Amino acid sequence: MSLFDRYKETFPLSAAEYAKACGLFPGGVCHDIRRFDPFPFVTDSAEGAYLQTIDGVTLLDLWCGHYGNILGHASPETAAALLEAAENGTHTGTLNEQQIKLASLIKSAVPEMELMRFCTSGTEATMYAVRTAKAHTGRELVVKIEGGWHGANSELSYDIKPPFNRLTGKGGTISLPFNNMEATADVLEKIGDNAAAVIIEPVIGAGGGIPAKKEYLQLLRDFCDRTGTVLIFDEVITGFRFRFGSISPLIGVTPDMFTMGKIIGGGLAIGAYGGKKEIMQTITEKKIVVGGGTFSASPVTMNAGFNTLSTLKNADYETLNAQGNTIRERLKKSVARYTHKACVTGFGSFFFVHFLNEVPQEVTCRPSRLLPVMDAETDRLFKIAMILNGVFTMHSGGALSFSHLQTAGVSDIIIKAYEDSLEAVFNEGRKALP
Ligand SMILES: Cc1ncc(COP(=O)(O)O)c(C=O)c1O
Repeated sequence: MSLFDRYKETFPLSAAEYAKACGLFPGGVCHDIRRFDPFPFVTDSAEGAYLQTIDGVTLLDLWCGHYGNILGHASPETAAALLEAAENGTHTGTLNEQQIKLASLIKSAVPEMELMRFCTSGTEATMYAVRTAKAHTGRELVVKIEGGWHGANSELSYDIKPPFNRLTGKGGTISLPFNNMEATADVLEKIGDNAAAVIIEPVIGAGGGIPAKKEYLQLLRDFCDRTGTVLIFDEVITGFRFRFGSISPLIGVTPDMFTMGKIIGGGLAIGAYGGKKEIMQTITEKKIVVGGGTFSASPVTMNAGFNTLSTLKNADYETLNAQGNTIRERLKKSVARYTHKACVTGFGSFFFVHFLNEVPQEVTCRPSRLLPVMDAETDRLFKIAMILNGVFTMHSGGALSFSHLQTAGVSDIIIKAYEDSLEAVFNEGRKALP
């Protein structure tokens, strides 16, 4: 029986619910990344490192709510915030102590966020950060990185996927070739002092799980210093993922502004942007519209974030990162036994496996090399094989949460699921493609 047939047989209730969802949402989902073939399973509940589907299947979860639930699902920290909100109200639309507590904790971890504002998503955070940089510099041009995903805001929603052949997007956005020093220096030379901001993910997420080289970030830092451009690190994924705070001390390059999201909300909807006082003060001085939105800094989210970060302050990031490093090294060996047309990327607790149409040559350091040679068909099958082997992946990989560390032998469980899935896709599966 093909993998897809086995999947359909395992998730009949999900199939029925998905059919209903297709009559309600384009593609049956509210975020494209949540749809996959033949249909996405429907989640019933989630606890710790596991998801339970409505079909009664339990899956080890490497997606963890878009990589946001670093303490695992249904953490006591977030539960406490929700209970308190049930008694005291979820949202008042007024200044509250909870936001002062959360911002103080974030600032203690990232002192360079001298002033900050909360909003309700990473998309808004990057949008407002760029708008602030524009007002501060009086310039319109924005510079991003090929493959960079900063949420769905219009200004930055281009050059995310191949073919990466447009240098400029609509509305004055220019894209740089990630990790390519020479080509980037050439473009920067032409830009000169015309750009408001350069925005970059220090570890590119959706663009392939690829860390920026230190010298690359330094090149951007030097350019921004020379030209008065605002350097923004989009840390919506990396913030509080690899250490308690920004990734920048691990790299040795510090931006002028940061955007955060995901983890800092403890599983509730959040975004934050902040940085140098003189830049952030532009918001009030020039009266620019950077509203956080109706639900910005709601006490329930602020509490969930505060409780989560309070726990993370004493969390063993070293072990979490080490576990991720071990998994990546083991995955490289496992994958190489089945195919040479693949590579493993990531950083710390974050790991992606990419199946490729060509044997990799320097593909691992640039989205423009990696993404165009992705083998989407193998990826599609592999995801289903992993689910049938009990593990839910995104980008054929994912991220660990601290609750994964509480599962005995978690890396063995993950590697076994990978090896069984590789076997199913590369040996058995080829005979029974859907
Ligand atoms: C690096 C990065 N920036 C911004 C965003 C947008 O965040 P949100 O989905 O909360 O709008 C994401 C989301 O995945 C992201 O990965």
